[in-house]
Amino acid sequence: MCGIVGYCGSGDATEIILNGLEKLEYRGYDSAGISIILDDRLATKKRAGRLKNLENAVAENPFTGMVGIGHTRWATHGVPTEINAHPHTNREGTIAVVHNGIIENYKELKERLQMDGYAFVSETDTEVVAHLLDFYYKESNNNLLTAIVRTSKDLEGSYAICAVALNSPDELVALRHRSPLLLGITDGGAILASDAASIVEHTPKVIYLDDGEIVHLQKNKAPVIYTTNLDVVEKEVKLLDTDVEKASKEGFDHFMLKEIFEQSESTQNVLNRFIKGDSFDLGESTFSAQEFKNFDSVYLSSCGTAFHAAQVAKYLIEDLIQIPVRDEIASELAYSNPFITEKTLLIVVSQSGETADTLNAMRLAKSKGATIFAVTNVVGSTIAREADRVLYCQAGPEISVASTKAYTSQLMNLYFFILDWAKKLGKLDNSLETQLLSDLKQIPNHIESLLDTVTGYRELAENFIHCESVYFIGRAVDYISAKEGSLKLKEISYIHSEALPAGELKHGTIALIEPGTQVIALATQRPLIEKIASNIVELSSRGAEILSVGFEHKGLKESSDRFIAIPETSDYVAPILSIIPLQTLAYYVAVLKGNDVDKPRNLAKSVTVE
Ligand code: F6R
Repeated sequence: MCGIVGYCGSGDATEIILNGLEKLEYRGYDSAGISIILDDRLATKKRAGRLKNLENAVAENPFTGMVGIGHTRWATHGVPTEINAHPHTNREGTIAVVHNGIIENYKELKERLQMDGYAFVSETDTEVVAHLLDFYYKESNNNLLTAIVRTSKDLEGSYAICAVALNSPDELVALRHRSPLLLGITDGGAILASDAASIVEHTPKVIYLDDGEIVHLQKNKAPVIYTTNLDVVEKEVKLLDTDVEKASKEGFDHFMLKEIFEQSESTQNVLNRFIKGDSFDLGESTFSAQEFKNFDSVYLSSCGTAFHAAQVAKYLIEDLIQIPVRDEIASELAYSNPFITEKTLLIVVSQSGETADTLNAMRLAKSKGATIFAVTNVVGSTIAREADRVLYCQAGPEISVASTKAYTSQLMNLYFFILDWAKKLGKLDNSLETQLLSDLKQIPNHIESLLDTVTGYRELAENFIHCESVYFIGRAVDYISAKEGSLKLKEISYIHSEALPAGELKHGTIALIEPGTQVIALATQRPLIEKIASNIVELSSRGAEILSVGFEHKGLKESSDRFIAIPETSDYVAPILSIIPLQTLAYYVAVLKGNDVDKPRNLAKSVTVE
């Protein structure tokens, strides 16, 4: 949700910031803006819409300097217009701030500032920060560090903020509280950014900032990090994984298609990491047998696609470990009377590792003494740092807003974690271990074979482009794959879709089925295929057109209008395969509708607000 970049050094700040914003555009793309300190003024330019609009405006009237800040926005308070775009400035335009997060007490701060004579021009919560900073800057005789420290004491909510002032031309200050912010140390200066993607092309050296930390950058001086009480904090410099730099489309029309195709490689990476001879080893990323034995309850909590990965895991945990598992959407966990104790294991899954709802769920569980196990794709992310144990997906950077390869990597990692758990508790006999490892080893090849017929998916997609609604059905874990398929379709094609447990249709929703209604049925759980085939007959007899995705089965095939065969494997691992056709189909429906596949409307890759 919003990306921010700040630069202070001897390089070209405009270029570094605009490049950095390009890498962060996935975090929000409603509007963008930049402020650069020039000799005689603070140049601020903002544009509604995509970053390209800002880049064109800067190219028409170029300006450059060595200190500046930039922002790409995902609107929370105020519609996506130029006035609401960041940076926000004081009345004179001599102080500028960019912000990612939400200032929860902005209304009372605004009233206070208005009583002091400050006039507001935008509808955003961020504008209060610009005026507050102006107030404290003047009060402290133009001391930017003191001003940000005093500002920090007044703010409530979540925020990563960068600020510059014309009268402190060689300085930049930043503040982090519950929104991501990293500091990159370059040869000639320092870069602040919401994500390592904007930093890695300049330097591998980073400092991960923690909540309540303030950064003071000064030209030709080393960065200093303070607490909000101005105590200096000594921080460790870490080295970034330079894989982040590899994020380019490499000939594919969209990142989403590239990432769909990368799934054979990303699942193979998981195998390479864990498979050791005929067995497997998760190293330090898991728990000991004694630790596993101590858990007497298991919770799963996450959001969106990551939640679906967690829900697939629930089936496997309950089947193999034989322990009841409660799953709660992260934004609901606090309101669901959670029975979390110091003997609870909470499993969270998050591609970005920064999702605010997931972090809140995790912090709530931690406050009750639970142990947190996280599966995430981003090394050094807040979730990774706050969890007790972490398994990194190592899927490589996922740029498309719609998650694909992160999902299948999350599943692969969760499967290995659950196998490890079952084995340590003596619940995985040798033959089941051998069978499951053999099935998992086949996944990369099976993914490749499912993607052999990409033109077929494009043709299939034609059937969906004029639909008002699409229904996805499945039973047991296939219902979770149905939910994930439905989410993929709706988020990029903008077609309404709904996933239902197949047996639930007759209790109401079947009333919506009429001639021509498109239904996608998942059928990868062998004991349930006959039942799904009967549901399909019920739907066909009301005129629905059915696409089935499942194992070869005569009854299933004959009752469906179209059929995609999932390669032979065990029911357990089938969800890692059945999602591939659904992702690819959703992609082509969106392409045929002319939508912006990688940046669907209203969405952002990393949702760092509640
Ligand atoms: C959908 C999608 C989202 C995310 C959700 C959680 O394609 O990507 O539903 O899964 O916002 O994000 P992370 O995994 O970063 O916590």
